[in-house]
Amino acid sequence: MSEIVLLSASPSASSRSRWVARSIVEGAGRPVRAITPVELGAEDVLAARETPSIAAFVGAVREAAAIVLATPVYKASYAGALKAVLDLVPHDALRGTPWLAIATAKAPAHLTPTAHALSELASFFEARVVASPLSFRDDELAREGEGYRPDMSAAERIARARDDLRHALRDR
Ligand SMILES: Cc1cc2nc3c(=O)[nH]c(=O)nc-3n(C[C@H](O)[C@H](O)[C@H](O)COP(=O)(O)O)c2cc1C
Repeated sequence: MSEIVLLSASPSASSRSRWVARSIVEGAGRPVRAITPVELGAEDVLAARETPSIAAFVGAVREAAAIVLATPVYKASYAGALKAVLDLVPHDALRGTPWLAIATAKAPAHLTPTAHALSELASFFEARVVASPLSFRDDELAREGEGYRPDMSAAERIARARDDLRHALRDR
């Protein structure tokens, strides 16, 4: 069964964006391959080296049942580490692949340009957009144990995205 590739850009051990993404993909009924930019080797990524781990990553992306991106907002856009990794992905590797992007931020005003940038990325790759980019403010996600407790609006958006993803995966 082909996997959902979850590309999570945050370096934080208690990442909100990754927590949201996991809540969505874990209900989608597919194995999940979670990848962080750090695992690929920062220097190798920046030097665009074709290392075995970068080649395996690109292969996983090509074969993915769906790709889910999770990013914090940094400097009013998505994380640079995400950009650096996506720069290694060939233009045609995600054509037609179900695509879902998730961003979290402190300032609501920065979620709009980030969502716009993530939409542009999906268009660039000609991916099949499962849903508009999901945007969450930090104050919609309260710390609870090892994870987070979404408020009602955030919980509804998470549940809807899970349904949308499951639906997009039906024929894959
Ligand atoms: C280096 C850095 C830059 C940030 N820049 C912004 C920003 O420009 N706008 C914003 O709203 N939040 C900004 N934040 C806050 C994060 O986007 C926010 O806390 C997010 O939920 C973190 O996601 P994560 O827990 O997945 O890492 C920044 C945080 C860091 C550490």
